[in-house]
Amino acid sequence: MSKIIRFGISLSSDLSKRFDVRLRKKGYSNRSEAIRDLIRQDLVIEEWLEGSDVAGAITLIYDHHKRELLNKITDIQHDFQKIIVSAQHIHLDHRNCLEIIAVKGDSAKVNKLANMLKAINGVKHSTLSMSTTGRSLV
Ligand code: NI
Repeated sequence: MSKIIRFGISLSSDLSKRFDVRLRKKGYSNRSEAIRDLIRQDLVIEEWLEGSDVAGAITLIYDHHKRELLNKITDIQHDFQKIIVSAQHIHLDHRNCLEIIAVKGDSAKVNKLANMLKAINGVKHSTLSMSTTGRSLV
């Protein structure tokens, strides 16, 4: 484990107050852990933009009555099977389905897959949750 260093941060009292309110809402007990998480988040985003070994989840909400939509979603997933670890389909209600696709691999391919799925006509909502097992999480 690397050694711990300390450093001061200069910021306006206004910004400091807003940050303190925000971190209390999020359940942080001190500023250090909140700032560490912000730094990690920023480094993870950088790894995602450049990384060759990223991990994450794509979630989709769509109407399963549109049969062609289901076929398109499946076809695209078969084209990207090398980076798909698993996929879970949940029947939310009579009409809506939730699909959670766990992905791992090259960030450019993961982003391409997420964008292709999002662009399908009939996908109501889509998110890409980005994470990594890389060095930035220490
Ligand atoms: Ni379903």
